[in-house]
Amino acid sequence: MSAFRTSWFPFFLAAIFFIAILNNIFYSPKKDPEKKLVIEKDWKAPDINLVPQTPEGDLIRYGRALIVNTSKYLGPRGIVAPITNGMNCQNCHIEAGMRLPVNSFFSVASTYPRFRERSGKVESIVFRINDCLQRSLDGKTIDSLSKEMQAMVAYLKWVGKNGIPKEKLSLTPAELPFLNRAADTLKGKIIFQENCQRCHQSNGQGVLYPDSTGYLYPPLWGVNSFNASAGLYRISRLAIFIKYNMPFDQVKNGPKLSEEDAWDVAAFICSKPRPVKIFPEDWPNPESKPIDFPFGPYTDGFTLLQHKYGPFLPIKKAHSAIQKASDHH
Ligand code: HEC
Ligand code: HEC
Repeated sequence: MSAFRTSWFPFFLAAIFFIAILNNIFYSPKKDPEKKLVIEKDWKAPDINLVPQTPEGDLIRYGRALIVNTSKYLGPRGIVAPITNGMNCQNCHIEAGMRLPVNSFFSVASTYPRFRERSGKVESIVFRINDCLQRSLDGKTIDSLSKEMQAMVAYLKWVGKNGIPKEKLSLTPAELPFLNRAADTLKGKIIFQENCQRCHQSNGQGVLYPDSTGYLYPPLWGVNSFNASAGLYRISRLAIFIKYNMPFDQVKNGPKLSEEDAWDVAAFICSKPRPVKIFPEDWPNPESKPIDFPFGPYTDGFTLLQHKYGPFLPIKKAHSAIQKASDHH
């Protein structure tokens, strides 16, 4: 027995060690955004029907209601305060933030507070919600002690309760592969007409409910849409959102649009007017600006137009060359 063990056991240990290393290599999401999608599949969405009938449970349910029907509470005719544009959080955080893989809330509880380059600060969940209120909902912030803020935070913590630890998550959001050309607004217009306008309308203004308390189909541009400082105004964020979530009624079994079409229709939407609200304190370290942020100043020599529509590969290459050079100093 002991002879058997001495001959067999070291190989067994070596095999386990080897598997552990392989697992680490293939499971580590660090620099590869695609890996994030793999990890996310391990996450189990909790069931709202199982939230207990307690005061804490009521707060979670109210938080969910605020995210699903934001406009009812905080929209232009909101029953709590008229401080937003009439969109709902859920318009972009689909299924109340439970739908993977884009803009899901699954990792908020385990990754916040966290440092973000846009503010150059360690942000709390409250700070991040107020960010979306000011930009995506083109509105005002709400007090951290208000019942509404407490409720949304309680909901987000509950969503993340089966959380995946921070170390296993990529904080870089997933991205579609870049095109070899600039995204094309004219091609995008045709894709829009064929796939989107039956709901979002030819003028992109969406469709209000008959009582005007919110949108059946939310606006994609114009005065009631997200403003130019919102994350979705970056074409890479918009393209990947569209790829996985639109046309709304045709993606249950996976994406419908090609990557190319998603980029082009995103370009068309980004070419349309929308509210502009400038946050001068954004990107205190200009070198950390994402390559598709369409506002200057940039020191890399690429035009603002290229930062808006691409082609992005040359920018990415130039930036990683600068990065490499500065790593040597
Ligand atoms: C117009 C679309 C849009 C709307 C409406 C919107 N958001 Fe967001 N939100 C985004 C985008 C885009 C991101 C960035 C996601 C990323 O980093 O990949 C984001 C990020 C977040 C995050 C951080 C997620 C993370 O994992 O870092 C939170 C929390 C959040 N939003 C909450 C809200 C709440 C609450 C509302 C409603 C009050 C709201 N959002 C409305 C588009 C939107
Ligand atoms: C069947 C109707 C329908 C079609 C077709 C459709 N959408 Fe949507 N879209 C929706 C709905 C509904 C929402 C909000 C989802 C929610 O609140 O659950 C939405 C949300 C959005 C949003 C985020 C919120 C906003 O207003 O900015 C974008 C961007 C978007 N759609 C783009 C598109 C694009 C691009 C297409 C075509 C490729 C498209 N949609 C096709 C119904 C549709």
